[in-house]
Amino acid sequence: MKLEIEITKKQRSFIEAGETEVLFGGAAGGGKSYGQLIDALLYALKYPGSKQLVLRRSFAELDKSLIRVSLGLFPREIYSYNASSHVGKFKNGSIIDFGYCAYENDVYQYQSAEYDQIRFDELTHFTRTQYLYLISRLRGANNFPKQIKSTTNPGGVGHGWVKERFIDRSEAGRPFRGEDGMERIFIPSHLSDNTFLMRNDGGYKARLMALPINERRALLFGDWDVFDGQYFPEFSRDRHVCTPFEIPDSWRRFRTIDYGLDRLACLWVALSPEGRIYVYREFCESNLPISLAASKILENTTEGEDIYATLAPPDLWFRTQESGKSKNILFYEAGLNLTKTANNRESGWLALKELMLDGGDGPRLQIFSNCTELIKCLPMLKIDKLRPTDCSTEPHEITHAPDALRGFAIYRTSPAKNQNQNGHKRWTRDLWDDFLRANQREQNYLIKKYGEPN
Ligand SMILES: Nc1ncnc2c1ncn2[C@@H]1O[C@H](COP(=O)(O)OP(=O)(O)OP(=O)(O)O)[C@@H](O)[C@H]1O
Ligand SMILES: [Mg+2]
Repeated sequence: MKLEIEITKKQRSFIEAGETEVLFGGAAGGGKSYGQLIDALLYALKYPGSKQLVLRRSFAELDKSLIRVSLGLFPREIYSYNASSHVGKFKNGSIIDFGYCAYENDVYQYQSAEYDQIRFDELTHFTRTQYLYLISRLRGANNFPKQIKSTTNPGGVGHGWVKERFIDRSEAGRPFRGEDGMERIFIPSHLSDNTFLMRNDGGYKARLMALPINERRALLFGDWDVFDGQYFPEFSRDRHVCTPFEIPDSWRRFRTIDYGLDRLACLWVALSPEGRIYVYREFCESNLPISLAASKILENTTEGEDIYATLAPPDLWFRTQESGKSKNILFYEAGLNLTKTANNRESGWLALKELMLDGGDGPRLQIFSNCTELIKCLPMLKIDKLRPTDCSTEPHEITHAPDALRGFAIYRTSPAKNQNQNGHKRWTRDLWDDFLRANQREQNYLIKKYGEPN
């Protein structure tokens, strides 16, 4: 018997992926579910006697999509399906169980089962607990390859954990090893990959275009960074993240830090001659006292690397009560000379938004794909409910790397933006701090020099 099946390039990558965990995810209609079923068919034929589990969250969805499509796709001469047990059997002894887990605990029905391949369709509809439990069913006394292969769109209850497990850790399409040692890969799917659908249903794309912006970004572009209340909707992995390259020696380099005992974030930034800003390295770690933070920053700077300035927020200049020394002095004593930036949060964020905009030849801000904390945190920042022009400081752990980048953005833009129409500098948060501590005479001086507070 000869199978006549055509597949797209991305479906081929999915089918050929050998990592233990594979995710094929992104735009709606990219051919993900279809690719999953072809892969299941090829596996069943290649490994006679193999066992596979194909899952969807609810039975209705399973029946409507996967079961129905598989009945059209799998050749009748070699395949039969039992609608009451939901088991598909091949003549060579391979089987496919079609399952669903409507409730969290439904996974326990698989307690005594063993599978060679487990396939989730619409993985973001599942919870992490369900996923982790089911992957423990991946075993068997044979040498068939054992894998969990999933397909999904962004969104759904599991969006967060799926994104963290597969997308935040590596560049798309590049295999990586998780902290648990498992090999993973994320294969992004785009609507344009599916030549079959584009050929036969020209109106599909137009229908997706008509969706509200966030759904459109998720379903049409397969964008994982979309959710309501996002502070930087302009941020996109496709446009702001780039593959690392060797930075020429002649480019000016900076470090910019955000420091607290809870977390240090240090970013290395280089300026290209045409004015593009490349964040090319990051170092983020918790619980570092200043001396250690400083030495870690220096250690992570390549020998001979010429750093023009190390930028830091003005609160590091405040004197602490215990030692009477400001943090900036302690950094200095540990070998790191800091340059003070302004701390007007809103101007800083605006400056950063400005850098993310596309000026026609791509955005000025580019982040190397190795800066994973920054790339993860930027799209997670949420709009502050009380001050919509600012972003929320919760959850606190995601704010450090973006704060460090904000310091750089305000440093780059403040010389021009700090002037008001009278040529007076605008009142920064710093200036306010000085003003409030100053006596009458000094205050008059500041007003004369910088204009009335604004
Ligand atoms: N290799 C192929 N040959 C023929 N038709 C295909 C192929 N791949 C996909 N299609 C068709 O394209 C359409 C969309 O494919 P599919 O349902 O697999 O997309 P999807 O990425 O799972 O979409 P969704 O995100 O909506 O679940 C379907 O009608 C499917 O039959
Ligand atoms: Mg699908």
